[in-house]
Amino acid sequence: MVDDATWERLRSAARAARELAYAPYSRHPVGAAALVDDGRIVTGSNVENASLGVTLCAECALVGDLVRTGRPGDRGRLIAFACVGPNPGPLLPCGRCRQLLFEHGGDDLLIDREGGPVPLSLLFPDGFSADHLP
Ligand code: THU
Repeated sequence: MVDDATWERLRSAARAARELAYAPYSRHPVGAAALVDDGRIVTGSNVENASLGVTLCAECALVGDLVRTGRPGDRGRLIAFACVGPNPGPLLPCGRCRQLLFEHGGDDLLIDREGGPVPLSLLFPDGFSADHLP
């Protein structure tokens, strides 16, 4: 159970991360924050590049934060995720980032969405995972 105060904390951390975005090309800064099962809050901002196709979404940086600050052997699982762009309300992750989040949070990861959080399985059903590898 993720309470309202925790969601507000995540949204606030996402807004702070948005301030640190590097988005000179799109002028579309994005910030993301997530609660980890060990209590950490991890964050990320988008990082663009003159070679536009290699731009990193905020979720990429967030996953980097999760892995970098976790313990080797147990990096932690994502429990709840909030993301904000320049427009009001939550920003929903792009397709590639749904795959990234799925790796570290699975079906039950809660995603902040207009009208209330939803599990990642609703946005990304039947995700590809390590279970599908030989
Ligand atoms: N962006 C993200 O950071 N996350 C998403 O899930 C969607 C898009 C960024 C990438 C790019 O820097 C800007 O938003 C415009 O697409």
